[in-house]
Amino acid sequence: MKGLILSGGKGTRLRPLTHTGAKQLVPVANKPILHYVIENMAKAGLQDLGVIISPETGESIKEEVGDGSRWGVELTYILQAEPGGLAHAVKTARGFLQDSPFVMYLGDNLIGSGINHLLDSFRQDALDALILLKEVENPSQFGIAEVDGQGRLVRLVEKPKEPPTNLALVGVYLFSPCIHQAIDKLSPSWRGELEITDAIQMLLDEGKRVGWQSLEGWWLDTGKKDDLLTANTMVLDSWGQREILGEVDAASQVSGRVSIGAGTQIINSKIRGPGAIGAHCLIKDSFVGPFTSIGDHSRVEGSVIEHSVLLSGVTVFQVDRLEDSLIGRYARVSRHNRHRSLQLLLGDDAVVEF
Ligand code: G1P
Repeated sequence: MKGLILSGGKGTRLRPLTHTGAKQLVPVANKPILHYVIENMAKAGLQDLGVIISPETGESIKEEVGDGSRWGVELTYILQAEPGGLAHAVKTARGFLQDSPFVMYLGDNLIGSGINHLLDSFRQDALDALILLKEVENPSQFGIAEVDGQGRLVRLVEKPKEPPTNLALVGVYLFSPCIHQAIDKLSPSWRGELEITDAIQMLLDEGKRVGWQSLEGWWLDTGKKDDLLTANTMVLDSWGQREILGEVDAASQVSGRVSIGAGTQIINSKIRGPGAIGAHCLIKDSFVGPFTSIGDHSRVEGSVIEHSVLLSGVTVFQVDRLEDSLIGRYARVSRHNRHRSLQLLLGDDAVVEF
């Protein structure tokens, strides 16, 4: 069984944050989303993984992820020159996949559970496709499945204007090689893409064995700012651990599950978990509340931060209260006069002074 990670695209929904980076590399609890994806595949015993990359962000993905040896897997990078859709990505990876069954995993999807049981069911039931479904509140933004009274999958439709159900396709799919014949017969959808949802519908129409399971636990499609903050909260809540490598002075208090990276100094501050503070940061005269992640080389002084994600190299200076915010790399938020609380979505290199 091989794995195919889709890590292409331009990440327009997270702009401006992704002007200078790939959406799959945006950190959740200080770790790029793509790392969770690879970990989850490695834990399921998948060792031969293809990674679809785009010309825009491919190099940064290669640089960040490397050859996969730190997870004990072998990564093969596959360039998808045009963003032609998920099925087009599979077509592009045909040479890598050959006639092997495979797990396709979208590189911006975070799920709170392992995938081992999916591999087991796929094999036991000799399926041609296995999809994962989860109820969502905004079904017109996803691929949607219709299931009949006997629990049989009847129909799949991509981003319907009038969704028949609220059962969305999660970005983890298992396929036998017969998906390739279906993809070869596809024509582009209204959005000009080859949709994997249409290819699975074709398998259904042809009477192939398509199974489904509902996803237990949480799922976050981290395409947007609020999803990313929620993802950060979920990951810190579920997997956050206390590990203090940096220095905490006697006037400071660190309570709960907080990780603090090497070379970081906490001075006269309160840090309340769950939270993650990277390496080589300075946190001085501040309060960092629960569900906050602060990237490496950041500086927080005289400020209160809660429920926020700061990428690396961020400065927050004299800010009374920063909450529900997502701050890009090397952005600086500093106060020169008194003001109310802030809610921000800032791109890389942004500066806010008020
Ligand atoms: C893609 C799929 C969609 C699926 C979603 C899950 O959407 O086309 O069926 O529900 O991923 O994340 P996209 O990310 O291309 O909008």
